[in-house]
Amino acid sequence: MDHFAYRDGELYAEDVAVARIAAAVGTPFFCYSTATLRHHYKVFGDALAGLDATVCYAVKANANLAVIRTLAWLGAGADVVSGGELERALTAGVAPEGIVFSGVGKSRDELALALDAGIGQFNVESADELASLSGLAAARGVAARVAVRVNPDVDPRTHEKISTGRRRDKFGVPWPDARGVYARAAALPGIEIVGVAVHIGSQIVRLEPFRAAFERIVDIVGELRADGHDIRRLDLGGGLGVPYDGETPPSPAEYGEMVREVTSGIGCELVFEPGRVIVGNAGVLVSRVLYVKDSAGRAVTVLDAAMNDLLRPSLYDARHAIAPAREPAADAEHRPMDIVGPICESGDVFAQGRPMPPVAADDLLSIRTAGAYGAVMSSNYNSRPLAAEVLVDGDAFEIVRRRQTTAEMLALERMPSWLDGGRDRGAA
Ligand code: LLP
Repeated sequence: MDHFAYRDGELYAEDVAVARIAAAVGTPFFCYSTATLRHHYKVFGDALAGLDATVCYAVKANANLAVIRTLAWLGAGADVVSGGELERALTAGVAPEGIVFSGVGKSRDELALALDAGIGQFNVESADELASLSGLAAARGVAARVAVRVNPDVDPRTHEKISTGRRRDKFGVPWPDARGVYARAAALPGIEIVGVAVHIGSQIVRLEPFRAAFERIVDIVGELRADGHDIRRLDLGGGLGVPYDGETPPSPAEYGEMVREVTSGIGCELVFEPGRVIVGNAGVLVSRVLYVKDSAGRAVTVLDAAMNDLLRPSLYDARHAIAPAREPAADAEHRPMDIVGPICESGDVFAQGRPMPPVAADDLLSIRTAGAYGAVMSSNYNSRPLAAEVLVDGDAFEIVRRRQTTAEMLALERMPSWLDGGRDRGAA
């Protein structure tokens, strides 16, 4: 469910015509819908009703401050994976106690930043990291609240590059080693064990892998308690998939029901780290058609958005629905079309052979479900400035990240001394 729909033949984001935003902001831009964010947050929360549950929004999915604040004001905590995301969450107004710090490689500086901020939980992924955290916490005279991320060796059956819970993946502590790592943690100063964490991957469209992983974790909780650890929190990670183009992932309600079954009687507070399921459908990438050409019998539509704006199709062969901002006639003939960006790589393709109604230069197209892992994964490749981001709420819209300028892109760079000044210096 989202709030992007045609009205009188025009695509609207809530009560604002997307074409009106394009006229004001230029293209390409990401457009986010507050009502959709609120809706998804509520649906996810409702699915957990009756459970002692905390929702820590996975900031990596969409790190815009306005998006984080929208969710924080609805009650969300935050799951962060870098010092930068931590600063974003705090700046957006997330309470430090509501912040979980995940990630396989937190630097000492990042750990120190998080300790000084007083965050709620560190999800530790190795004995080495535990030792670093212990030293830093003890030196400050504080205790870091720790869950160890356990790798349950479960295949989430999603894209290879976003699978994180199999033995061969780099994440977490292999489940057979968990008891040993907890024993070490318990002996370290500055470490307070609070729970166990698991996250097996992203865009997961079946319940079974979640169930298998959670069952393993529940078993491990029993063993850890038998070893004398006070396990009072279970962090079940994120990963619930969304429909991009015809997928049928389990609903949050089905997911919640399964969680209820697997964790019943365990007596733990549950933590969830959803990202995509909250923000995915709440955003579109709006782009203008630059040119349309016929290439060896194929229709090729060249957009002003590219893989530097939305990397997912190039990186994961992800299939995002694409729709014109002007509603096609009901009887419009659909023909196969390649929809591509202007970047000088053959992989800069949003869709190949996609049945599309007629499209012409200057038309606006919306690439759907771009709210998650869109703007956050963008880059300056081909020296293209970062796109603008816009947030809509009812009939209001505002720029929440303005388009980067070329001057800003160049501002971090400088000439070394031997290239600075006139051309004659150092000339052969
Ligand atoms: N928690 C942890 C520890 C994670 O690593 C992730 C995602 C999440 C929560 C949130 O997962 P979600 O609910 O959004 O599935 N760039 C890829 C997705 C990478 C996900 C990485 N970790 C993509 O565009 O599909």
